[in-house]
Amino acid sequence: MNSYAMQGDVAVVSLSHPPVNSLSLVLRRFIVQALDAAESDPAVRGIVLAGSDRAFSAGADVAELGTPAQSAEPILPTVLARVAACRKPVLAALSGVALGGGLELAMSCHGRVALASALVGLPEIHLGLIPGSTGTQLLPRLVGVPRALGLMLNGQPQSAQAWADSGLFDLVVADDVLAAACALARQWAEAGALPVGARERTLDAAAVAEQVAAERARLSARQRLQPAYGALMDAVAGCALPFAEGAQRERELFLQLVPSHAAQALRHQFKAEREASKLPPEVQAQPRPVQTVAVIGAGTMGTGIAICALDAGLNVLLLEQNHEALARGQQRVTEHYSGRVAAGKMKPAVADAAQARLTASIDWPLLERADVVIEAVFEDLSVKLAVFQQIDTHARAGAVLATNTSYLDVDAIANATRRPQDVLGLHFFSPANVMKLLEVVRGAHTAPDALATGMALGKALKKLPVLCGNAFGFIGNRIYNAYRKQCEFMLEDGAWPEDVDHALTGMGFAMGPFAVADLSGLDIAWHMRQAQAATRDPRERYVGILDRLCEQGRLGRKTGAGYYTYTDGKQAPSTDATVRGLIEQVRAARGITGQPPSAEQIRRQALLAMVNEAALLLAEGVAARASDIDVVLVQGYGFPRWEGGPVFWARQQERAALERDLQALAQSVGFGFRLGQLDPLLA
Ligand code: NAI
Repeated sequence: MNSYAMQGDVAVVSLSHPPVNSLSLVLRRFIVQALDAAESDPAVRGIVLAGSDRAFSAGADVAELGTPAQSAEPILPTVLARVAACRKPVLAALSGVALGGGLELAMSCHGRVALASALVGLPEIHLGLIPGSTGTQLLPRLVGVPRALGLMLNGQPQSAQAWADSGLFDLVVADDVLAAACALARQWAEAGALPVGARERTLDAAAVAEQVAAERARLSARQRLQPAYGALMDAVAGCALPFAEGAQRERELFLQLVPSHAAQALRHQFKAEREASKLPPEVQAQPRPVQTVAVIGAGTMGTGIAICALDAGLNVLLLEQNHEALARGQQRVTEHYSGRVAAGKMKPAVADAAQARLTASIDWPLLERADVVIEAVFEDLSVKLAVFQQIDTHARAGAVLATNTSYLDVDAIANATRRPQDVLGLHFFSPANVMKLLEVVRGAHTAPDALATGMALGKALKKLPVLCGNAFGFIGNRIYNAYRKQCEFMLEDGAWPEDVDHALTGMGFAMGPFAVADLSGLDIAWHMRQAQAATRDPRERYVGILDRLCEQGRLGRKTGAGYYTYTDGKQAPSTDATVRGLIEQVRAARGITGQPPSAEQIRRQALLAMVNEAALLLAEGVAARASDIDVVLVQGYGFPRWEGGPVFWARQQERAALERDLQALAQSVGFGFRLGQLDPLLA
């Protein structure tokens, strides 16, 4: 319950809207009423606004975004104006988080006292917005334009301690923030004059313009594609104006952003990510307890997974096939931690404690200690089957057994054990200690509590776990393959690799498909194609460009050439004559003399391919929800987050045009192309 209580002659206004004091209509009304009461009570000399240990306030109520409650009076700017206009000193006592509107509320007070561990931030940019309740005007007035922009562009919460010397706080304390705030309120009341609030301060107009211009010039290409970044610069430039004018400009910019495509897409992602980690009702179960994770295979993925588990406070057993491979893996882990410490990103004691939880060995009977076993050995079914037989021999009953396979059949692997109910896929992405996506693959026999354990472990590892059915490539690689194939067709049809890559990076993809292929190495796909050659139907459309490149030793970045050439590790902006000649030969062999497609056509065709595959995945039950597909593409494949993902994109298109273009796509591919049903995807 919100409360209003006297501590001597100071009124303590305590906000209580669990879990994080989001500034719902009820809370906004309470603040105004409490201030009215405190101001009119002669016994009150000062006022302290306080939250809970967990949160001063995490800001606007996301559940209210776009609802009538959000725009009901008093709206947040009205509340903040009321706070700032109070004739008695108002102090914010910050503990837990003070984010977005919560920090704007604190900045509207005459002063702020924070617990050193409190976290402050203005994360609106992550939702395609800017602070819309005077945050862009207040923070620069308190800490200067460069630091203020730093916090708003980054959007991540930072500790109050890191801002102790910034002008944001009057005092940063190690404990009892409430007592410190009350004491300061009393001191100010006794002094008889209110401190100058942030609103009354003025900044040098020329300096503001110069600083904003410098930051604007530093925006990256991907940031420039998102309207919120430019709007943020425009809003902060308004700090050169009188406060009321700047605040009005900020509000207008904010209101323009709320219904923008990017903000809608980012809200969709935000909700989709929350939904994704929920298991469907039929498989809901209590997860099994996990304290010790065994990782088998100390290669690229195995060491990354081990680091994740160590960072999450788990005990890790890292197993290998021989001493040499084990030593290489151990060295990678050690280098990772020493690198973090050297970069000042981890305290030495924390790094030491993490490494102390690691046991590296080739002694397989140790597996008996593990609650979860994650296999990350070579992507070869016979190797994996042999490894799972060994796991079955040594792991204790009830341990959850997971494979990190990218493409192999999880059921075939499960059937190599006598306990297929305990087996599932945990498909991490590379680098496993950085990428947040985790595909949790449900086999035909996976028990609900084993699945729940996989999801819970994912969350404990700070991943975004997404449930997938057991199908070749699961969700992400299935869609990515369909997309890459379509991009290869475009080469045959008249586009150069750089046309395709630029069209997609121009939309905000982190990289284009051909630059990605060069980076991961063309030989992986080449070997897979060779393995599939015997079963490929000759009537299927097949583009042989990649095979020709590999035959010439152009395996990608690692050999200095692939689709592009790389001198000194740098990619040439366009393909060289050899690659162009080779593509022209392939086109000529098929009698194709097409016009090069426009960037817009390239993007549409690539997205249509993703949408079609998404429809198939949903119909097959490989994806449980359409929005899960968007989470996978954004989190694992560089799909621009502010475009929402392929499903979000499809939902923005005109239905008839989408159907017409998908039909055309099916025809252009011809034999073997399966057209998905749009209804479930667009519902
Ligand atoms: P890697 O070649 O870097 O590491 C594999 C490790 O497994 C090697 O250290 C090897 O000594 C060890 N190993 C092989 N046979 C073993 C056995 N019988 N017993 C114990 N250890 C054995 O391979 P990487 O890239 O780490 O891939 C591992 C798995 O992760 C594969 O299934 C792969 O498809 C999957 N994966 C790979 C991704 C990537 O980007 N590299 C991404 C997602 C999944």
